[in-house]
Amino acid sequence: MLERMARPLAGLWNGAASVISGFYRALGTPGKLLQDFMNGSWLGHSLHAVIVDVVIGGATAALLLDVLRIFFNVEGLDTAAIWVLGLAWLAGVGAILTGLTDFKDTGTGDERNITGLHGFINIVGNGGFAVSLLQRWNGNHDGAFWTLLIGYLLISFGSYIGGHVVFKYGYMVNHNAFSRGKRAKEFVAVVSVAEVAEGAPTKVMFGSTAVMLVRRGDVVHALKDTCSHAGGPLSGGELRDDTITCPWHFSTFRLSDGSVVHGPAGSRQVSYRARINGDRVELQGPHD
Ligand code: FES
Repeated sequence: MLERMARPLAGLWNGAASVISGFYRALGTPGKLLQDFMNGSWLGHSLHAVIVDVVIGGATAALLLDVLRIFFNVEGLDTAAIWVLGLAWLAGVGAILTGLTDFKDTGTGDERNITGLHGFINIVGNGGFAVSLLQRWNGNHDGAFWTLLIGYLLISFGSYIGGHVVFKYGYMVNHNAFSRGKRAKEFVAVVSVAEVAEGAPTKVMFGSTAVMLVRRGDVVHALKDTCSHAGGPLSGGELRDDTITCPWHFSTFRLSDGSVVHGPAGSRQVSYRARINGDRVELQGPHD
């Protein structure tokens, strides 16, 4: 049902994603750093999910204060409700900005459509919080309760759809969480040195696991080929200094240990120990 609701507006969602991508691109390097902050790459988890907790918690508390005031005649709660709802609205603005940043890298099709619907409903719901705040500012506290209730119901539905984005589509979830691949306690030969071109990402198979190798002289780096962000092939990415950048959404990982240099990835890339033994490249790991 959610997919059917979201599909007719696919053009809107794709257009919005293009505009947001263009905005960050136009900002250049500062845009990249801002995007890293918004994605939560520095945190190791989605920043959006953290801020959403404040929105829902604050709105629930504001609603409770209103219910106590209106239905149980508890006095002196008007000002507290304004402060708590104000916090929820402000966090809502943060959730919108972080959410739009995550949204621009969704895969086209149902994943993007559903995420767009989630964002649209929550933006309208947060607008309801803003109207409720204005009503309180003008002394209309009872009217503000009903507006808050409508905004709250919208945000609740939008949050449900947000759960769909994560739990059904696995968006912003580490794509290697359930499949770290082959494990080897001892070094295992995977390919001849001659097949790994100097300074070019090379995809090899380590058992059934695709691994990207980068050889520089006698030093070999090895990362799992499947990008932790959304499964892109790192061996098709761009090598620069000691990093590799994924070709799909440009997450950048350090070759030596798979740590995240730039998002949208929030999870470290699975990495292996690699060495040259005779004319063979050998792998051991992955590192935990
Ligand atoms: S798949 Fe998105 S950055 Fe690699």
